[in-house]
Amino acid sequence: MTSRNLKDYSTERLLISPSLLAADFGSLDTQVDDIARAGAELLHLDVMDGHLVPNLSFGSVVISNLRARHMNLLFDAHLMIEDPLKYAEDFAKAGADHITFHWESNNDPREVIAKIRSLGCTVGISLKPATPAEKLFDLLDLVDLVLVMTVEPGFGGQSFLADQAVKLSEFRKEIKRRNLAVHLEVDGGIDEKTAPVVKQAGANILVAGSSVFRNKLGIEHGIKVLR
Ligand code: DX5
Ligand code: ZN
Repeated sequence: MTSRNLKDYSTERLLISPSLLAADFGSLDTQVDDIARAGAELLHLDVMDGHLVPNLSFGSVVISNLRARHMNLLFDAHLMIEDPLKYAEDFAKAGADHITFHWESNNDPREVIAKIRSLGCTVGISLKPATPAEKLFDLLDLVDLVLVMTVEPGFGGQSFLADQAVKLSEFRKEIKRRNLAVHLEVDGGIDEKTAPVVKQAGANILVAGSSVFRNKLGIEHGIKVLR
C-alpha cells in the first residue's frame, strides 16, 4: 500500500522518488503513470528560481495539473528557491504532500518549518554540498526529512559526488543517537552503482531522475534496480 503521508512510512523503509525533471515533458502523464505502476512511492518535484540555483524549472501550475490526474503518489516538492516562506502556500495548494526547502534560502529555517506545518504538509530541509551536516543538527527534531544533495543543485544528469556520502552517515548517526523519526533522502547522480553506497551510508529515500526516466531498459527497470 502507498500513502500520501510521509509519516505513514517507517524511516527504515526504502522509498523511491523519481525526479520529474528528467521526464519527457511531451508525455508527462504516461511517464508518471509508469513510475506509479513500477512501484515508486513518491514523485520528486524540483522547483528552481534561478537565484538559489543557476537554473529555472517549473512552478505550482505544473504540480496542480499533475495532482488532478495522479492521486496515489506522494508529491515530494524540493524547493530550490530563495524565499520558501513566500511560496510554500502555493505549493501546498497545488497538491504537494511534502515540502523540502534549503537551509541556504534567505528565510529563518524555523519560520519556514512552522509555515509548512501550518499548511498541513510534512517538512524537509536540504543542504548544498558545501554546507556541513552539523549546521542542521539543531533543526533535526523539527523536521520529518533531511535531503542530502550529492550533486550541486540546479541540474539533472550530473555525476554523483562521492565525498557527500560521509554527510549521510553523519546525519544517520545523529538521528539514531537522538532516536528521531527522520527520513534521510539523497538526491543527485543516483543509479544502480551509487544506490548501494548511499544505502550503506544510511539513506532510506532515493531520488533518481536520469537513471529512472532515461533508463535505456525502461522506467520499470530503472526503479527495480534501485530496490
Ligand atoms: C538537482 C535536482 C535533482 C535532479 C536529480 O538540482 O534536485 O532532483 O533532478 O537528477 P539525476 O538523478 O539525474 O541526478
Ligand atoms: Zn531534487
